[in-house]
Amino acid sequence: MLEKYEKAGKIAARVRKQAAKKATAGMKVIDLVDWIESEIKSTGAGLSFPCNVSINQIAAHYTSPPNDDTVFCEGDIVKIDLGAEVDGFISDTAVTVIIEGDNGELVDEDGNPLKMPGRLDDGNPVVTEDEIEHRRAIIDASSNALENVISIVRDGVSLEEIGRVVQETMNSKGCNPIVNLSGHSLEQYNLHAGLSIPNYPEKSSVVLKEGDYVAIEPFATDGVGMVNDIPQSYIYSYLRNRPLRQPDAKRLLGWIRDDFTYFPFAQRHLLERYNPRSLNRAMRPLLASRAIYPYNALKEKSDAMVAQTEHTIIVEKDGCNVTTL
Ligand code: CO
Repeated sequence: MLEKYEKAGKIAARVRKQAAKKATAGMKVIDLVDWIESEIKSTGAGLSFPCNVSINQIAAHYTSPPNDDTVFCEGDIVKIDLGAEVDGFISDTAVTVIIEGDNGELVDEDGNPLKMPGRLDDGNPVVTEDEIEHRRAIIDASSNALENVISIVRDGVSLEEIGRVVQETMNSKGCNPIVNLSGHSLEQYNLHAGLSIPNYPEKSSVVLKEGDYVAIEPFATDGVGMVNDIPQSYIYSYLRNRPLRQPDAKRLLGWIRDDFTYFPFAQRHLLERYNPRSLNRAMRPLLASRAIYPYNALKEKSDAMVAQTEHTIIVEKDGCNVTTL
């Protein structure tokens, strides 16, 4: 079991490091996402969730829809959150990078501006050197918070203490934690098992125990430190079987149940069997009957920039084992 957690961790860590170098201005988000997911699968591992690539004020839960034209632009602060699973044993890890390079022309073949659902601006933002320095400080607030938490995790550490370390570290860098996003415990075939690991000192007597598997993910921002749903969703999970009348919807639900019993999926993962338009149509009754659940993308409430750093760790008696280093 430990071996499988460690294998899933190593795969995710390697892909995360390579992905962080690959993301450059002018590149399409979908090209990065496809590369990441095929790298993970090429090892024989599965995806513990669709790779999330969330730009600027989007904190989490963005992944490319089919034919996504969203492009990275110079100065973007980009969260890359990915995970692998080996026989259901999960890794979950994230890094934030600042995009460098030349944006190029952000137009389609007909010269029309690209539609970019992964951006809340129209593309080609002007980001000053000072602003880039500031964004780097937000990334440091998040990564330092994670390092400081890792240095105190051991059998018996309280969730409240973890949250305090996150908040104090971020405040000392002039940032705030996002209080309504949290880390989570992991179990075989269960990405969000039981425990939430807070990013602020929430009153709690719960402690971590030796042998606990947890993903710790402090989100830092220079804004108010909350996220809201935006209406769009790009990630889904299977909830339950439902009697559906439309044969197309029924078939789709069968495939989703078989292929994504435990782990979330994106529309991209169903394109071998559907074109995007018929997929949208077939998914509607599944959503309406709550056979599948949509995760809305999450945006910082005050439209501020967000950074995230995440590792999967195993709690030990006198410390912890970080599987995704
Ligand atoms: Co996570």
